[in-house]
Amino acid sequence: MGFVKYEQKEQYAIITIDREKALNALNSQVLTDLDEVLNGVDVDTVRALIITGAGAKSFVAGADISEMSSLTKEQGEAFGKKGNDLFRRIETFPVPVIAAVNGFALGGGCELSMACDIRLAAENAKFGQPEVGLGITPGFGGTQRLVRLIGVGKAKEMLYTCAQIDAQEALRIGLVNAVYTSEELMPAAEKMAQKIARNAPIAVRATKKAANDGLQTDMDTAIAIEAKLFGSCFETEDQRNGMTAFLEKRRPDPYQNK
Ligand code: CAA
Repeated sequence: MGFVKYEQKEQYAIITIDREKALNALNSQVLTDLDEVLNGVDVDTVRALIITGAGAKSFVAGADISEMSSLTKEQGEAFGKKGNDLFRRIETFPVPVIAAVNGFALGGGCELSMACDIRLAAENAKFGQPEVGLGITPGFGGTQRLVRLIGVGKAKEMLYTCAQIDAQEALRIGLVNAVYTSEELMPAAEKMAQKIARNAPIAVRATKKAANDGLQTDMDTAIAIEAKLFGSCFETEDQRNGMTAFLEKRRPDPYQNK
C-alpha cells in the first residue's frame, strides 16, 4: 500500500507510515492508505496493533502543510473530518493500538499517537501541537484528546504556546507510558503487543470498549456499560479456559478468541 506498510506477525501487526522524505507528514493519500490498511486487518487473528513511522527521525511530523496551505474553509473542514474520522476509528478499533513514537510527533503526529491506546516513545521523540503558530487550530482531535490525557492546564499551555516537549517530559506528564532508546523501542512495543495477545481477546476487546465508552459518559452510565461487557465474557470458551486453569493451578491453554 502506497504510503503505509502493513506487516502481520502471528497475533499482532505493525503499521508503518512510510513517507520518510516528508517526515511521514499526513497528506490525504496517507490518510486514505491508513484507512485501507485498517480495512484489511483480520481482527480474528490480530490481537494488537503497533503504529510507527518510517526512519529514525520522525513518527509523524503533522498534517501536510503544503497540501493544507491552499485549502478553502470548506476543504479545511473536510480535511479535518477525514483525519478525525480515521483517528476515531483507530481509537475505537476492536484491538488495542500501541503508538511506537520514533521521533517527531507534532500536530497530526501527536494527535495520531493520542488516538492510540498506549504511547511508547524513543528518547529522541518530540511532542507538540504547533498549529496556532501556523494560523490554524489542531484539527485531528488535539484540542480534545490532549486535555483528556494530560489535564486541562498543561494541555492548554502546549496548545497555546506550541512548545515542543521531549520524551522525558512527555513521560513526566503522563503523555507516554515509557521511554526507550531508539533501538529498544520496537522490541519493547512488540513485547507489549505479544503480552496483550496472550490474554483472552474477547475480554481485551470488551475492556477497551468499556474504558472508551465509559470515558464519554457519567459514572452511573459507565458502570452499567461495564456490567454489560463484563457479562458478555461469560459462557465463552476463553472464560471457561481462564478460570478452570486458575482453579486447577495451571496456565490457561492458548486463548482461542471464542
Ligand atoms: N508537512 C509537509 N511537509 C513536511 C512537514 C509537514 N508537516 N514536516 C516536514 N515536512 C517536510 C519538509 O518540508 C521537508 O521537505 P523538503 O525536504 O522537501 O524541504 C522535509 O519534510 C524534511 O523536513 P525539514 O527539512 O524541515 O527537517 P528538519 O529536521 O529541519 O525539521 C521539523 C524537522 C522540526 C519536524 C520540521 O520539519 C517541522 O517543523 N515540520 C512541521 C511540523 C508541524 O508544524 N506540524 C504540524 C502541522 S499542522 C497539523 O498537523 C494540523 C492538524 O492538527 C491536522
